[in-house]
Amino acid sequence: MADKIELTINSQSVKADKGMTILDAALKKGIYIPHLCHHRELEPVGACRLCQVEIAGKWTKTVISCKTEVQDGMVVRTETPEINKMRQIALELLIADHDTDCLACAQNTKCALQRVADHVGINKERLQRLKPREEKLPIDDSNPFFNFDPNRCVLCGICVRTCDELQNIQAIDYAYRGLETKIAGFGDRLRIESNCESCGECIVRCPVGALTEKDYQRPTHQVKTVCSFCGCGCGLILGARDNQLVSARGDVSSKANKGRLCVKGRFGYKFVNHPDRLTSPLVKRNGEFVKVEWDEALDLVAGAFSKSKGEKFAAIASAKATNEDNYVLQKFTRAVMGTNNIDHCARL
Ligand code: FES
Repeated sequence: MADKIELTINSQSVKADKGMTILDAALKKGIYIPHLCHHRELEPVGACRLCQVEIAGKWTKTVISCKTEVQDGMVVRTETPEINKMRQIALELLIADHDTDCLACAQNTKCALQRVADHVGINKERLQRLKPREEKLPIDDSNPFFNFDPNRCVLCGICVRTCDELQNIQAIDYAYRGLETKIAGFGDRLRIESNCESCGECIVRCPVGALTEKDYQRPTHQVKTVCSFCGCGCGLILGARDNQLVSARGDVSSKANKGRLCVKGRFGYKFVNHPDRLTSPLVKRNGEFVKVEWDEALDLVAGAFSKSKGEKFAAIASAKATNEDNYVLQKFTRAVMGTNNIDHCARL
């Protein structure tokens, strides 16, 4: 069991594990410290400077709570006039360089920047004076599944660290310096020209509306299920709206994937409601596919199978099928069709 540390945050006694940061300890206790670049699965970088807190005592000092470990007897204050002032300036500088048409943003009401602004409060006049530019940077919509809008980016680097630390792809990084800084693929090329694998892990962690799924619709209800694309068994939460699938996200409670998904699991759900999807069997007659009933199609296949028993027959099982389905197929091949010609697509 991890060693326990006792500290005080805003006069509340808090127990934390050794090695925990002040920010994690506070959040676990339900004490909100504004933050943007922190993500529990990623290494802290201290980029946004919003999580500053004061450590009281003989040598009172201000620290970044997402990078400072808890210590026994530590006394932390998260809301002093100095801290609030520094935080407000850091926040206003961020917002000054950020689109504020929140109602048109896919992250509206879920945006971490909105939450911080609500907590800290902003001075409208000062914000107006800070606004550096009016021209909009072009949106990178080259990826078929998601868009990157640099006008909504707060340069927290969560997408960069996700791509590097969690996915080990390193498709994106900070480009340029100062006011020109942006997140980009190598050589500031479009996302589609980078080595991005479109897993979408950066989108789910983006705290603002900079990375958003194309044609995003908020679901009205959600269902837990298992991804059917391969045999990994990743936990999936599908979202529906008006009887159409509109979203998919990883199930963090699933031991198989702990909330992570690949491109197929995250974005490959549109076939379900696609108008081109086959919904009944087709049989070729005179060179044309014709719709038939299931019974007729199955009789046709069974008749053809019965004429092809033995070494004439071979079956290839599928990674998209369940273990049970694959088992039944090998049993059918051996026991009914009388051959050991059975293989699996995963061996190809
Ligand atoms: Fe600590 Fe951004 S959350 S500096």
